[in-house]
Amino acid sequence: MTTLNIVILAAGKGTRMYSEKPKVLHRLAGKPLLQHVLDCATELKPKQVCVIYGHGGEMVPKAMQQYVARFVIQEPQLGTGHALQQAMPHLDSDSLTMVLYGDVPLIQHSTLHQMVQAGNNGLVLLTVHLANPTGYGRIVRDSKGDVLCIVEEKDATPEQRDIREVNTGILLAPTESLQAWLAKLQNNNSQGEYYLTDIVSMAVKQGMVVHTVQPSHEWEIHGINSKSQLAVLERTWQLVTASRLLVQGVTLADPSRIDIRGKLTCGHDVEIDVGCIFEGQVNLGDKVRVGAYSVIRNANIGEGTEILPYSHIDSSEVSANCHIGPYARLRPGTKLNDEVHIGNFVEVKNSEIAAYSKANHLSYIGDSTIGSRVNVGAGTITCNYDGANKHRTIIEDDVFIGSNTQLVAPVTVGKGATIGAGSTITRDAPAGELTLSRGKQTTIKGWKRPMKAK
Ligand code: UD1
Ligand code: CA
Repeated sequence: MTTLNIVILAAGKGTRMYSEKPKVLHRLAGKPLLQHVLDCATELKPKQVCVIYGHGGEMVPKAMQQYVARFVIQEPQLGTGHALQQAMPHLDSDSLTMVLYGDVPLIQHSTLHQMVQAGNNGLVLLTVHLANPTGYGRIVRDSKGDVLCIVEEKDATPEQRDIREVNTGILLAPTESLQAWLAKLQNNNSQGEYYLTDIVSMAVKQGMVVHTVQPSHEWEIHGINSKSQLAVLERTWQLVTASRLLVQGVTLADPSRIDIRGKLTCGHDVEIDVGCIFEGQVNLGDKVRVGAYSVIRNANIGEGTEILPYSHIDSSEVSANCHIGPYARLRPGTKLNDEVHIGNFVEVKNSEIAAYSKANHLSYIGDSTIGSRVNVGAGTITCNYDGANKHRTIIEDDVFIGSNTQLVAPVTVGKGATIGAGSTITRDAPAGELTLSRGKQTTIKGWKRPMKAK
């Protein structure tokens, strides 16, 4: 098979975004538009990926530096044909070149694969039939139905404007032919631009077959020019993602009120209430329930765990049958073992909590190692930071920490110890004993409240 190059056009200004950021760096489903296209391009295993950038200067190559791609600047921007021309010196003639767009983010691998299959050294256009073709270049065919040319709306006759089959812009062609055609482009059209679309009539003139392929879904070819188009495509994509979860058997309280900005995998009988946001890679085990308005990022949640509303979980591991929330916050480096309970207004960071332990109310647990069956009383704080360094708190199995305790790290509470409520613990507490530190309670007999002076 002939080798494949992919060129992504991404030099446009995006005037209607009204933003200082280049258009292709705006995000859809949490990921820059251009990154969606680069990920899809990479799936085709091309020999080379070339990104044509312009507006926003080095911001585009910088934001995409994790990709193995060649970034070529187009300055000034004289049209799509001129944009593709910039890539030509970098592509070997003995190959195929596919053209994608940095602002058409949802193009799918299956559609591009179909184009490659249709390829065998002809020109392949991705076209679509639209109820409203306004704004697009029209596909003009002859009486036999063969493609003759593409005419831009601004250059079209009234009859041509009635054509519903439009150019998505995405195409595949032999690189050598592209190099020859692009060198011959003229800009004598209504926009004074070098139109990439003019190569179609050149191919036809030289007797080359023009194949057309249609995308599996119309949303794949939607481009982004404004914040409203971005918002509409975001909702479309979220609904597609939600429908896939429903098909897999996930219960969604409302498929139009979930946002997945990354990858969410679910076991069986998972239930997700409204307003939840999933970011990065999140894995929910069997029978996990996620309460309303929870935000979960890069986390594994073990089977049977229940997350109550308004909980935030980031870069954490949660084992089976835990109860989290409402209003709980698990920060990076949290590891909860089976059947741990983390209640309202409890924050856990960089800490491991062993099975059956509970911190149910108003606590901060940071840089700690907590054993099994520990009860952390309401309002307990690990004082892990001395103003310069962080220190660890170790609480062994079967400890009971009374409410409103401060544990000044580094400190260890031995196995089975009890800490009296209201204590500030600055030294290790021995196993099996009651340790407390508080002022003695006194009563001043006959004391009178002060009176307001006359
Ligand atoms: C283009 C097609 C049109 C098609 C439509 C689909 C041409 C002449 N017309 O029109 O047939 O229906 O896309 O959306 O190709 N770009 C550059 N450098 C440039 C000009 C554009 O990188 O100098 C990039 C833009 O960033 C954008 C894309 O190419 O991503 C399309 O450019 P745009 O000017 O929006 O093309 P349309 O007029 O929409
Ligand atoms: Ca244009």
